[in-house]
Amino acid sequence: MLSYHSPSMPLDRIDVTTPSRSYSVTLSDGGIDRLARILDDLGAPERRFVVSSPLVWRLHGPRVSRVLGSEEPILVPDGERYKQLSMVVRIYDALVHANADRASTLITFGGGVIGDMAGFAAATYLRGIALVHVPTTLLAQVDSAIGGKVGVNHPLGKNLIGSFYQPHAVVIDPLVLGTLPRREFRAGLYEVIKYGMTSSAALFDRVARERKAIFARSSAVLTPIIADSCRIKAAVVSADERETGPRRILNFGHTAGHAIEAVTKYRRFRHGEAVGYGMLVAADLARARGAFADHDRQALAEVIASLGPLPPIADLSSAQILEAMQHDKKMVAGRLHFVLPTAIGATTIVDDVTEQEIGAALKRVGFAK
Ligand SMILES: NC(=O)c1ccc[n+]([C@@H]2O[C@H](COP(=O)([O-])OP(=O)(O)OC[C@H]3O[C@@H](n4cnc5c(N)ncnc54)[C@H](O)[C@@H]3O)[C@@H](O)[C@H]2O)c1
Ligand SMILES: [Zn+2]
Repeated sequence: MLSYHSPSMPLDRIDVTTPSRSYSVTLSDGGIDRLARILDDLGAPERRFVVSSPLVWRLHGPRVSRVLGSEEPILVPDGERYKQLSMVVRIYDALVHANADRASTLITFGGGVIGDMAGFAAATYLRGIALVHVPTTLLAQVDSAIGGKVGVNHPLGKNLIGSFYQPHAVVIDPLVLGTLPRREFRAGLYEVIKYGMTSSAALFDRVARERKAIFARSSAVLTPIIADSCRIKAAVVSADERETGPRRILNFGHTAGHAIEAVTKYRRFRHGEAVGYGMLVAADLARARGAFADHDRQALAEVIASLGPLPPIADLSSAQILEAMQHDKKMVAGRLHFVLPTAIGATTIVDDVTEQEIGAALKRVGFAK
């Protein structure tokens, strides 16, 4: 469990500046207790609706109610299989029944699923109302709450329906991670490793070195890791809001990762776990091309293994995974854009990867023929 180690924890502020909106990410232990003040400072519209899940609300809702009071929370189930348009409709219904108007702020309080679904509701209700993310999983804190991607899955593919809608603020309180199941916590750590691989060898090394303190959820170690991850995401998004250029590096591990999730119908893997395998596939492929050193590939494999076992893949065929990759959004004009590592902390994007190369890398990582 996390614990306060000082009554007034320092507040980290990270700015995100995009053509559509500029906002800050505030990060501090106990940040939720500052929520009302942050909203007031922002001039966030007065009527404040919280969208959360029954579980998250049961665990942490009282703290939010204490600072925000007022409206009943809008509760919808989370987990990948609920990330559907029908849940967004439930949120619209609740907003309509409560007469939510443009002078309303929607606060998402949950993991990436709640953030993506409720963020999409905020983007579209009355053509857009104020949105504040208060992410409660490690994955949402380091990744999904920043950058403005909101949306839901279609039965035939992940995140096929959505838009870009930057929040007005993001408030991160690492203390809520104390109740996160270990598997969910690990799932977020794979995304932290991703940032290390794409942008910061120092962050990568820190995860490898401080694994024990990270798993103990020591806020002295964890909060700076979250902050560094947020800084990387904020910088990348600020440079390329719409993912036409540099933001694509954050898809490292996601080309194979999304395919692995899709062929297992989003049931076997947590998103981060699939990205764990996806990073191994990309690293293996880059090494086979002679573009990535074997000792770096080994270091990645070791840090991933050190977090614990990933779900099995021996029953999944590389042909299935390859087939699923063809449906990926990262296909541009029939070519698959692949983010390959060139060193720890550096990547390149290529569009000439052949099916044979991907198939061979998948098999070496452990997928069946
Ligand atoms: N928008 C983006 O840029 C972006 C980026 C990465 C991922 N995503 C999306 O995020 C989703 C995954 O998010 P996730 O991993 O947070 O999953 P999630 O939202 O389903 O949460 C995982 C589980 O943790 C529980 N939970 C949440 N906070 C908790 C807490 N503090 N204590 C105990 N339990 C808690 C939830 O109830 C849920 O069961 C995927 O749909 C993915 O596509 C979006
Ligand atoms: Zn991801």
